[in-house]
Amino acid sequence: MPHSASNRRADVLGVHSLDHFSLTVPDLAQAQKFYTSFGLDVRNARSGFDLHTTGHKHRWGTFREGPQKKLNHLSFGAFADDMPAFRERLERLGIALVSAPAGSDGAGLWFRDFDGALVEIRAAEKSSPDAKATTNNIVAPAGVAAMPLRDAAPFIRPRRMSHALVFTSDVAKAIDFYMGALGLGLSDTAGDGIAFLHGLHGSDHHLVAFAKSDATGFHHCSWDVESFNDVGQGAMQMADAGHIAGWGLGRHVLGSNYFHYVRDPWGSYCEYSHDIDYVPINSTWKSGAHAPENGFYMWGPMPPEDFAMNYESPSNSLTRDLVSSEPG
Ligand SMILES: [Fe+2]
Repeated sequence: MPHSASNRRADVLGVHSLDHFSLTVPDLAQAQKFYTSFGLDVRNARSGFDLHTTGHKHRWGTFREGPQKKLNHLSFGAFADDMPAFRERLERLGIALVSAPAGSDGAGLWFRDFDGALVEIRAAEKSSPDAKATTNNIVAPAGVAAMPLRDAAPFIRPRRMSHALVFTSDVAKAIDFYMGALGLGLSDTAGDGIAFLHGLHGSDHHLVAFAKSDATGFHHCSWDVESFNDVGQGAMQMADAGHIAGWGLGRHVLGSNYFHYVRDPWGSYCEYSHDIDYVPINSTWKSGAHAPENGFYMWGPMPPEDFAMNYESPSNSLTRDLVSSEPG
């Protein structure tokens, strides 16, 4: 097994990236408009559309149409020559492989977590960053206007996906499962309500996070932009497109990123993120168990009351219908 690459740890078997997520949404055209307005590169695919970012060859998300918004699967990327070892590990852990879902390219290892959530490990290029993201927070010198006029505001295009946050019925079990089977590292927890996991071959503070609910579900995907101005400018871009509801501008504690979440038409979120913490290869990052009130956000407005609501849970089906009928 070659271990010379600088983006690879020699002593661990672990996935290196969140390769992509897959969602079902009730209205593909509405979803396309939402993500296009967000600044993503939406490309038609066989049975729906895929999400890309401008100037990056990776596919970060895939969408198809169905009766209601639903997380179909998370797919994690691994080094190709680690795939046999992952197969052995899953077998050793008693995790049964299942058939690839219809429409997938089928080459990965597919299985379900303890909640029944569908997961793939696939051989893929490392799409998580190999270093902390660069910033472009321009400070104008004296005598120069920092801002263009409003009608010359740039269209914000995120550089890459950073992470996804999904719901689980049991955060402690999710930590055990995703560390044990997939080889992710624990970055931080806040109470028993949320856990943030990173890739051991170098990744953002979290490439996936798990929040407590009574069912599985998709909470948000997060997209890296190059400046904190772009977080606010992105939120304005979405407001101009009619997507006003959300949460921000603020700064998280765990992960440290500047954030603005824009609510999608189905009650989950798309996050502009800047300057998230990075856990480098061979890091000495010490995971912390924090009190929830001490780890959520450093500053920002109050989050919406239903920010942590899992609209995919059968117990929230009534409120889900109300949310879907509201303007985006
Ligand atoms: Fe996030």
